[in-house]
Amino acid sequence: MSAMNPCGTVCISSSVHSCIIISPSGTPKWLANLVGSVGISFVFFVTLMKVRQYLLRILLAYRGWMYENVREVSWKNKLWGLTVKCVSGYQPSLYSCQRSLPRMHIPPLDETLSKLLDSLKPLCSEEEFKDYCKQAQDFECSIGPRLQRLLHLKSWWAPNYVSDWWEKYVYLMSRCPLVINSNYYALDHYIWTPTSKQVSRAANVVHSILSIKRQIDREELQPLLLRNTIPICMAQYERLFSTVRVPGEEMDELLHFDSREARHIVVWRQGLFYQLSIYDDKNQLLSVTVLEKLFQDIIDDADKHKESVSECERSVAALTGLPRTEWAQILRENFKSGINKDNMDLINKAVCMITLCDSVPDNMSEKGKMLLHADGRTLWCDKSVNVFFFPDGQCGLNVEHSMADAPVMGHVWEYAMTME
Ligand SMILES: *[C@@H]1O[C@H](CO)[C@@H](O)[C@H](O)[C@H]1NC(C)=O
Repeated sequence: MSAMNPCGTVCISSSVHSCIIISPSGTPKWLANLVGSVGISFVFFVTLMKVRQYLLRILLAYRGWMYENVREVSWKNKLWGLTVKCVSGYQPSLYSCQRSLPRMHIPPLDETLSKLLDSLKPLCSEEEFKDYCKQAQDFECSIGPRLQRLLHLKSWWAPNYVSDWWEKYVYLMSRCPLVINSNYYALDHYIWTPTSKQVSRAANVVHSILSIKRQIDREELQPLLLRNTIPICMAQYERLFSTVRVPGEEMDELLHFDSREARHIVVWRQGLFYQLSIYDDKNQLLSVTVLEKLFQDIIDDADKHKESVSECERSVAALTGLPRTEWAQILRENFKSGINKDNMDLINKAVCMITLCDSVPDNMSEKGKMLLHADGRTLWCDKSVNVFFFPDGQCGLNVEHSMADAPVMGHVWEYAMTME
């Protein structure tokens, strides 16, 4: 990381300084001068930020570094890397490089079509393939070029011309159940477990997850850098937590709540759901020891009261594993008012879902199965993150896929695992 100061701070202080020296103090014009100098500094600062942004954007449009061996970097690329480091500043914040990232390249229409045909070829019969080739030709001669021009237009105003469509058509409009088809899971350490006490592990891991969430909320987490130099897009970090995928009859909806609304986690034990506030009365994150005690209280309470809830009530999470349209209809008919709605809102707004399981998986395959689909009624599939803790101290997580790709959650999980 370069040791240079961000140009912005250095320049704004010097400009305010020089303006105050120039302004004749004590004259009736002092107020006008002060306002003028503050105004000029502000404009100067904004201009400088914009210049920095565009400069970085121009620099990042260069792709030559991709094709070079990491161990034999040419002087040209070294110089380029150094300039990128200087321009992106010392300790950039989470989203500070977002506006400087290069636009995604739109491939020419004929290239898109030939790639599409190549990918269709193994999937269809020879006759069907001929038909597709003809359709592609027709498309290229008729409406294709016009749509391609519109796509270019979109690429000028959208941060990425494909990501909103990808989210909508690939994820949210899919009507299959989320379990197995879309959600994915992650394991913890292979053999080593730092403790064999379920509540201690849960407290420790949950605390790490909440502290990285706080870093994301405050934009203190630094952007990931390729080769320690090139910033990559961090947009997907924003909706990792406090997010839920609400089923709709034709299309699901992703809801995200900010940290003013989402101030609790929901803990599942024996089919009972507990709301657990994550801040104390001084607005600080709960400490590991307090979390540990609260998890133990939840386990004791749930084990005492498990007989008082019916089998159906205990299995309500199974609804989230239904095909999406079916779940949307049930949601509309049964969860739109009263206590059901209130409880649903609490689950939706939770930062994440914590599951305190009561049985230990026999081996790795069983553990994988537990994390991927559990017993069909333990996993709240709509929730962006479900963290499972087993009675022997092992853990793992299940993640909803539409709000972010796996490397993003992988980064958070790696943080939690290494903090142990
Ligand atoms: C894992 O445990 C399950 C259930 O006890 C068993 O059926 C399965 O054969 C085991 N798998 C391996 C690879 O040992």
